[in-house]
Amino acid sequence: MVDLARISKLLAERKPGCGLPQALYNEQNSFDFDMQAIFARSWILVGFDCELNRPGSWMSAMVGPWPVLITRDRAGELHAFHNTCRHRGAMLCKSGKGQAARLVCPYHRWTYELSGELVHAARMGEDFRTEEHGLFPVHVESVHGALYVCLAETPPDISGFRRAIEPLLAPHRLHEAKLAHENVLVEKGNWKLAMENGRECYHCAGAHPELARFFPVDSSAHFDFGEDRRQEEFEARLAGLGLPIGPVEGDWWQAMRFVLNEGYRSTTMDGAPASRPLMCEIGDGDIGSLRWSVEPHAFVHATADHAFMFSVVPVSPRETHVIGKWLVHKDAVEGVDYDVDNLIELWNVTNLQDRELVENNQCGVDSLGFQPGPFSPDAETLALRFLDWYCRKAASFIGGPALAHAAE
Ligand code: FES
Ligand SMILES: [Fe+2]
Repeated sequence: MVDLARISKLLAERKPGCGLPQALYNEQNSFDFDMQAIFARSWILVGFDCELNRPGSWMSAMVGPWPVLITRDRAGELHAFHNTCRHRGAMLCKSGKGQAARLVCPYHRWTYELSGELVHAARMGEDFRTEEHGLFPVHVESVHGALYVCLAETPPDISGFRRAIEPLLAPHRLHEAKLAHENVLVEKGNWKLAMENGRECYHCAGAHPELARFFPVDSSAHFDFGEDRRQEEFEARLAGLGLPIGPVEGDWWQAMRFVLNEGYRSTTMDGAPASRPLMCEIGDGDIGSLRWSVEPHAFVHATADHAFMFSVVPVSPRETHVIGKWLVHKDAVEGVDYDVDNLIELWNVTNLQDRELVENNQCGVDSLGFQPGPFSPDAETLALRFLDWYCRKAASFIGGPALAHAAE
């Protein structure tokens, strides 16, 4: 049971503009709270429609410690379920993805439709009713080719996000993409430290020499370059192409398209597109990078040639998995139109550098002398936005009707 009084006290200790008290970064009680208050009540980006591109496709994913299963049924409809058999609870599908006519539990072979109904359970007796033992559904939404699940009974409103991101994201045609690569990075640090790090570029000039080649690391969060008018020129050029750049934002999401450094068209080591055909052909692919992020755990960078997803899965107070996924156009042929090593190198190098920063940050945060310090209001705006959102979401759980649920 989560000690909510302790969490309330810790939240009350947080000073505006600063990081969180130490215990919110390293205690089991805080981790358990975060899973219930944050991860079980938010839309979680688990991947892309193109990973489930045929009837019978399934994909498993983790929402924090909880396994979920996403399927596409024979009629092409998407479904999502808690990945736990209604018999004795085995996971129906282990990690990864696959193709199946029906879902067969590996333990005693109870068999389910892709839409969740139980259709077969051997030797269960006369009065056993299959219709009472379907899989428990969770909410799933496809937003212009990206898949979000939510474990809450009543999820946050997603319609504003869908409406606002459409003009920005639709030109990238995520529906016509394919997954070129995915990997998992194990980081020995709290998920909130991984997210704070991922939401600011204060550290980029020093820690990411490769990223700094293409990314305007010296800009403010909203790409204000002062005297330098390159963002304004970029905006005018893209307006001419009919491509909006935002920014757009809501309580738990935000998106904007930003200019890359001179001569760069993609987030690759040499700035050249890593794959053809382009996912977005407008402007011959010279369209900067569309970045969208969702609280609590993910962001995506989409350039004309590919898209890269960074998604955090908390494992324990001091361990986090970072899931990376790279999409290219569905017609691109590996080894001909793109080379995986070239496609993934820039973000891989960057993510490994970030892992070191996060693990080092965790060790320092665990210090007896740690006190949360002030964030830069210019360079760490989005990290502060994340923390402010976290504190609001946490407070709404403590003060809201979910309290009874947490005390169970
Ligand atoms: S646990 Fe799934 S069939 Fe027994
Ligand atoms: Fe970084």
